[in-house]
Amino acid sequence: MSDFLELAARRQSCRDFADKPVEHDKLVKCAEAARLAPSGCNAQPWSLVVVESPDKVKEVAACTQLLGLNKHNDKAQAFFVAVEEPATLMPKVASLLDSQIFAKGDLGGFVLSLCLEAETQGLGTCILGMFDRPKLREILGIPDDRYIFLLVSVGYPASDRVRNKIRKPAEEFVRYV
Ligand SMILES: Cc1cc2nc3c(=O)[nH]c(=O)nc-3n(C[C@H](O)[C@H](O)[C@H](O)COP(=O)(O)O)c2cc1C
Repeated sequence: MSDFLELAARRQSCRDFADKPVEHDKLVKCAEAARLAPSGCNAQPWSLVVVESPDKVKEVAACTQLLGLNKHNDKAQAFFVAVEEPATLMPKVASLLDSQIFAKGDLGGFVLSLCLEAETQGLGTCILGMFDRPKLREILGIPDDRYIFLLVSVGYPASDRVRNKIRKPAEEFVRYV
């Protein structure tokens, strides 16, 4: 797959994973893609926990099933846990702005980079914003003063069907001036 638009169109939230383990090396490559993401002042305000041991995967999946949501994670083979870390901005920038001002945007790029790398490797991902943060913190030993930004469930998709994207048309959000 060489065309970026094709990759962007293929990436979709996978909610049906095959019963097939994901190779450790592929998870390492996803983490590497995330590492290369851009960030404000190159502050890199992130850390990543890769959950791949089957017992932990089960525990993390249970954390995502608040209110009966995210049943599909019963079949997830791994999870990425993206954590917001303190950002150190360049002194001139820091004198004007809160140090965390870019962090959530930076983490969005970080998460998308790993999802796109996963897609190039034939893996399916689903970004997850709804989960039991206190429980997950306990299971993974994430300190109380760190915000767990997003989870991503990972596995081989059970089907290779690509759904149509439901998106605003360009004229509703883009202006060329
Ligand atoms: C911040 C964020 C949180 C999300 N949380 C969930 C979630 O908890 N469960 C879920 O099934 N999908 C979740 N999604 C996936 C979105 O529903 C999905 O990206 C959107 O509907 C577009 O579909 P697509 O990813 O298939 O292109 C989340 C996506 C983002 C970016």
